[in-house]
Amino acid sequence: MDQASDLRRRVAERTRTGGHIDMRTLAVTSGKGGVGKSNLAVNIALAIQEEGANALVLDADVGFANVDVLLGRRSERTIVDLVQPGVRPEDVVQRGPLGMRWISGGTALTHWVHMSKEQAGACFDKLRDLESDVDWVIVDTGAGLNEASLHILGVVDDILLVTTPEPTALADAYALIKVVVRRLPGVCIRLVVNRCRSFAEGLETSNRLTSVCQAFLSYEPAVAGYILEDPALGQAVQRQIPVLVGTPNSRASQCIRQIARRVMGRSDAQPERPLGSARSGWREFVWKLQHAFGRG
Ligand SMILES: Nc1ncnc2c1ncn2[C@@H]1O[C@H](COP(=O)(O)OP(=O)(O)OP(=O)(O)O)[C@@H](O)[C@H]1O
Ligand SMILES: [Mg+2]
Repeated sequence: MDQASDLRRRVAERTRTGGHIDMRTLAVTSGKGGVGKSNLAVNIALAIQEEGANALVLDADVGFANVDVLLGRRSERTIVDLVQPGVRPEDVVQRGPLGMRWISGGTALTHWVHMSKEQAGACFDKLRDLESDVDWVIVDTGAGLNEASLHILGVVDDILLVTTPEPTALADAYALIKVVVRRLPGVCIRLVVNRCRSFAEGLETSNRLTSVCQAFLSYEPAVAGYILEDPALGQAVQRQIPVLVGTPNSRASQCIRQIARRVMGRSDAQPERPLGSARSGWREFVWKLQHAFGRG
């Protein structure tokens, strides 16, 4: 099929399904808190934008939502505001740097449980109708295992599991993998080792974790990459300007770009495992989320 007819097919398909057929979904999660999930979620979305694709971050950390803080923006609306009549799906989507989009969920998500099934259903219905040309949805989940996170991990195509080389972070990463592999057979977990002092330390850390998983769980997580310890990242948080925007040539930015390219299948380095074939459109993703939360 030539490029033009491929494009026509995609446009026709997008019109028919009301969403992007090639959208991929990615959750960023961790065992231990504070290991760099939110920074990775935001900056990977920015790296995806740099690559010419459209990314949307869904801030789903129920406890400590802070994507808005990292972007230096106040969320005007959260996903839960969709329950109000007159609030349209596009009203809860906010624009960040480089054209990235984000939806604030976070602490507001705790309201789901107080909503009637009809109200929650109405929110999801509106969300599903979002006219979406999004290629990548990045979901920032909370640390550790709670039911909300497990629901989300169950509906995404891939999981980026962030750890640092610290033994406590590694132990918590292992504990999370153990539960996720048991609860979600066939799951695709990719490790990101953040805050390494060298790539050798990153490699040693991922090797250690993968070999323990192989030995005790008969499961081998893939490796998405390494992010070096970099003061530029802490400064970015202080300035509330994502590191990829504020210091695009810093070591952390370069590492994150490499991870984004790898996840997108655009890296020279071969992914250690072929990218999953599961693909879904926006409408299907929202539908799966709704059912995972028992609101279908
Ligand atoms: N590569 C790095 N180099 C230096 N500092 C880093 C790096 N990655 C993260 N940090 C520091 O760790 C802090 C926590 O990062 P972040 O908020 O992204 O973690 P988190 O996993 O989302 O936390 P939480 O579990 O609370 O949601 C940052 O504010 C930054 O100071
Ligand atoms: Mg966070």
